[in-house]
Amino acid sequence: MATLSTSFFFLSSSLLLFFLLCSSKEGYALEARKITERHLLQHTHITFEISSLLPASVCSPSPKGNKRASLKLFHRYGPCSQVGQDKANAPTAAQILSHDQYRVDSIQSRPSTKNGLQDSKATLPANSGRPLGAGNYFVTVRLGTPPKELSLVFDTGSDFTWTQCQPCLGSCYQQKQAIFDPSQSSTYSNITCNSAQCSQLRSSTSTSPRCSSGNTCIYGIQYGDQSFSIGYFAKEKLTLTSTDVINDFLFGCGQDNEGLFRGTAGLLGLGREQLSIVSQTSQKYGKYFSYCLPSSSSSSGFLTLGNSGVSSNVKFTPLLTKPKSPSFYFIEIEAISVGGKALSIDKSVFSTAGSIIDSGTVITRLPPNAYSALRTAFTQQMKKYPRAQPISLFDTCYDFTNYTTVSLPVISFSFSGGVNVDIHSGILYFFSQSQACLAFAGNRDANTVAIFGNVQQQTLEVVYDVAGGKLGFGAGKCS
Ligand SMILES: *[C@@H]1O[C@H](CO)[C@@H](O)[C@H](O)[C@H]1NC(C)=O
Ligand SMILES: *[C@@H]1O[C@H](CO)[C@@H](O)[C@H](O)[C@H]1NC(C)=O
Repeated sequence: MATLSTSFFFLSSSLLLFFLLCSSKEGYALEARKITERHLLQHTHITFEISSLLPASVCSPSPKGNKRASLKLFHRYGPCSQVGQDKANAPTAAQILSHDQYRVDSIQSRPSTKNGLQDSKATLPANSGRPLGAGNYFVTVRLGTPPKELSLVFDTGSDFTWTQCQPCLGSCYQQKQAIFDPSQSSTYSNITCNSAQCSQLRSSTSTSPRCSSGNTCIYGIQYGDQSFSIGYFAKEKLTLTSTDVINDFLFGCGQDNEGLFRGTAGLLGLGREQLSIVSQTSQKYGKYFSYCLPSSSSSSGFLTLGNSGVSSNVKFTPLLTKPKSPSFYFIEIEAISVGGKALSIDKSVFSTAGSIIDSGTVITRLPPNAYSALRTAFTQQMKKYPRAQPISLFDTCYDFTNYTTVSLPVISFSFSGGVNVDIHSGILYFFSQSQACLAFAGNRDANTVAIFGNVQQQTLEVVYDVAGGKLGFGAGKCS
C-alpha cells in the first residue's frame, strides 16, 4: 500500500479570484461539524459563512494520516503548491474552465483511431486527442537512482505516464523541479522497438509508436487541447514512498512537450488500460487505489495505492466497463435530489449515455434534462438571493455581496447499489462574493456521457476497487 498526497492546483489571478470552498483549516473543521449536525437534523440545507468560502492564503496541510505509504495530493495553484506559485502565470478561472470544456469534448468524442505520429507537431491532427483538462491536482513522486522529485498531474482519465526529459530535443516547457535527466540515473533504460511493451503504446496513447535510429521505441501522445508529449519510451525505478518502490516502471521520457501542464513535470495516468500505474502495479497493489481531493487550495489530500482498509462509512457502487472507452471508470447515476426532494428525472435520462467518474474534469456534466431539473429545483430553493450574471460554463449565478452566511440546499447523488452521496463542497463555484454559480453544467445533447467531476468529489474518500468491480464513496475524508 502506498499513499501519495494529492494536491489541489488552485488559482488566484490578480483580477479574478476563483474560489471553491476554501477556508482555514480550523474554520473548515467547524463547518464540517456544523454540516454533520444539521445533516442529522434536517438533511436538506447547509449553512456556510461566506468568509469560509473565500480562498485561503496560508497553507495548512491536513495532518498526516497513519498510513505510512501515503502520497500527498495538492491543488496546483494554492498556497500549498510547490509548482503553481507563480501567480502571474496561473491560469484564470475562465482559462481553467475552457480547458475543462476541451477535456469534456475529447472525452465525449473520443477518436477511436489515429494516424501515426509524425516528427513535427505541426502534423499532429488538430482538435483530437486524449483528454487533458486544467489538470488541477498533482502528486509528487520520485524517479530514478538517485531519486529525483517530480510533481505530476494526477489523472484517472488517462493511462500513460510521462515526464519531461533532458536533453529536451524538441522543447520543454517550464517546470518547477529540475527536468529529469536519464543520463544521471543508474536505473534508466530505453524500451526497444520490437518489444511487447512498445506495442502496448497504441492503446494507451491512441497513437502508433515510432522507432528511433537507435532502436528506441518512441511514443507520442496528444491531448484534446493540442497539448502533447513526444519522446523515448523507457523504464525506470519509481519511488512512491520509502517503502513503496516500483522497479521497471514504464513511462514516457518526453523530449518535446507543450501544453498547459504549467509547473508540473508531467502526468501520472491512473486509467484502467495496460500502461497505467494501476495496471503496471496490479501484482503489488491489486488494482486498488483511493484518494481524497482537498476542497481548499490551502490543504492537502492523498492518493493511496493498495487497500489499506477503507473507512466504515464507505459505500460501494458497481464499476462498469465500456469496451469503446476502456480507460474510463463508468458508474451509474440513478437519481439526484436537491434540498431533500428527489428531482423527477426518468432513469433512462442517465442510462442513455452512461456516466463516468473523472479526477481531471473540474465541473460535473449532466444530461440536459437532468441539468435543467437540477437548476429549476435549485433556483426555487435559492429565491431569496439576488442573481448575478452567467459566466463561462455557468448559467445560474448569485450575488452574495450583502450576506455573511448563505444557506444552500444539499445536492445528493444516488448511484446504483443504493449509494447516496451528499455534495457539500461542490455546490457553488465562487468567482467572487458577488458571483457564485451553481457548479454543474448540462451536456449539449442527451447522447453524451455524463461526468462526475472533481469539484463534486472534493473531501470525499473515493475508493477504486478495479479488480473487485466497484467504486466506493465515503464522506469527510479530507478537507
Ligand atoms: C535511449 O535512446 C536514445 C535514442 O535512441 C539514445 O539517444 C539514448 O542514448 C538512449 N539512452 C540509453 C540510456 O540507452
Ligand atoms: C446590497 O445592499 C445595498 C444597500 O442596501 C443595495 O444598494 C444593493 O443593491 C445590494 N446589492 C445586492 C446585490 O443585493
